[in-house]
Amino acid sequence: MSANGPASDGSRVHIFDTTLRDGEQSPGISLNTQEKVEIAQQLARLGVDVIEAGFPITSPGDFDAVRSIARGVEGPVVCGLSRTHKADIDAAWNAIRDAERARIHTFISTSDIHIVHQLQTTHEDVKGQARAAVALAKSYCEDVEFSPMDATRADVEFTAEVCAIAVEEGATVINIPDTVGYTTPEEYRRYFERLYELVPELRDVSTSVHCHDDLGLAVANSYAGVLAGARQVECAVNGIGERAGNCSLEEIVMLLRTRRDVHGLDTQVDSRELARTSRMVSRFTGYGVQPNKAVVGRNAFAHESGIHQDGVLKERTTYEIMDARDVGLESNQIVLGKHSGRHALRDALEQLGFRIDGNALNQAFTRFKEIADKKKSVTALDLEAIASDQVREGSERYELLSFEIEAGTQREPRARVRVALPSGAQADGEDGGDGPVDAIFSAICKATGVEAELRQYTVSAVTEGEDALGEVTVVLRAHDRLASGQGVATDILEASARAYVRALSNALEGAAVREAESVTAEAATEPARPGP
Ligand code: KIV
Ligand code: ZN
Repeated sequence: MSANGPASDGSRVHIFDTTLRDGEQSPGISLNTQEKVEIAQQLARLGVDVIEAGFPITSPGDFDAVRSIARGVEGPVVCGLSRTHKADIDAAWNAIRDAERARIHTFISTSDIHIVHQLQTTHEDVKGQARAAVALAKSYCEDVEFSPMDATRADVEFTAEVCAIAVEEGATVINIPDTVGYTTPEEYRRYFERLYELVPELRDVSTSVHCHDDLGLAVANSYAGVLAGARQVECAVNGIGERAGNCSLEEIVMLLRTRRDVHGLDTQVDSRELARTSRMVSRFTGYGVQPNKAVVGRNAFAHESGIHQDGVLKERTTYEIMDARDVGLESNQIVLGKHSGRHALRDALEQLGFRIDGNALNQAFTRFKEIADKKKSVTALDLEAIASDQVREGSERYELLSFEIEAGTQREPRARVRVALPSGAQADGEDGGDGPVDAIFSAICKATGVEAELRQYTVSAVTEGEDALGEVTVVLRAHDRLASGQGVATDILEASARAYVRALSNALEGAAVREAESVTAEAATEPARPGP
């Protein structure tokens, strides 16, 4: 029986989170292992059923991150993605085999567009590959998911044949991807109904939806699939993913919960963790959340019109269909001040789900004191920002040691920076620029000797109020790749410098991984041993 098999309560919809796999495939996102583990821990706290931790064959970095999550994160099933090749499946199994509960997810396209143009093969070969892949995966691992990629543009009869083979070989979950976000709710529902007719054995396994948002229908299509009988939704926090992204986790979870009256279905997600998870993913990926984003956007519970404000003050439900507290907004009461000690900080961080000890706690405490000296009170949102900042610090290749800036209306800005290099040596850089931020960035490039092209620069405030912490996101191109970095400080120039140095570190990290890939993929392709 699969981890989400039909024997479990039929009204339960399983949440399969693919933030760290499909989500991480978004351009410019480059999460390191530590950040991925941190997100996976938060997903476990959120109560997702499955974490798709990555695509282990694609790089030693991905392999390592999936293995670390499998070894360190308790609760959810940990899943690794693979194509149908033996080396892929071996890599996926080697990466996840130490998980409490492991799943291999293997896929091959069933649409003619993909079979003819991309795979350049035949329908018979696709069937053979699907059979061999599921059989091999099953020889390693009890829980095996199979996806006929681009199913919604494929002939349903052929997809049904391939799914029947996968079930015959022991697949426990059959996922029907709308890979290019092309289907509509009604069409997707009919597709499922036809599949159930053609392959009655699908009723004995779990079926799953995986919808992309190219036409803005990912949540609606996922919901239609669930109403048609699917009991697993593949989704990503903040809806990140390839191109327009995936079905947004927080939206499908709150749709199922809020309208339970009409469908009688629900998930086991602790919705009060949604806002925090959204913030964490946004911070680590550099993908901001639009203010009017459903469920977790800054304005999702804000009322501007006088009539609405009047109504909500009299009775919240006049204009609110959800309670902000149920999604974790407006629920954090933690407030620390400059007299708070190390224990108070550690307790507060623990309440927020960060386990920081030893040197990392000392560093976080130093940052906290610096910030508490400048801000009257340090709230849960501030602490989250500081702790996330600390998580990234440990894995940096470059480190900002200090900066000085001269600027004014009558003079060209001039910045001087000192940076620690990956070798441990320190380097100074000095330059001017169009403005102070530009000068700092140029000085950092001089110090590191890296040529970088700035692609995006955003500043936001962590909380409201004049003394709010500033949070900066930088996306740049360096070492031939796009990378992002974030920085938090009371001073936005300092936050900018930190963000820029991090983005450079991430670009260098990505370049190193690429180099390692070309030299060896040994760990990932080591022949797999059978599972327990
Ligand atoms: O979109 C897609 O088809 C996928 C598969 C790998 C499931 O991401
Ligand atoms: Zn996808």
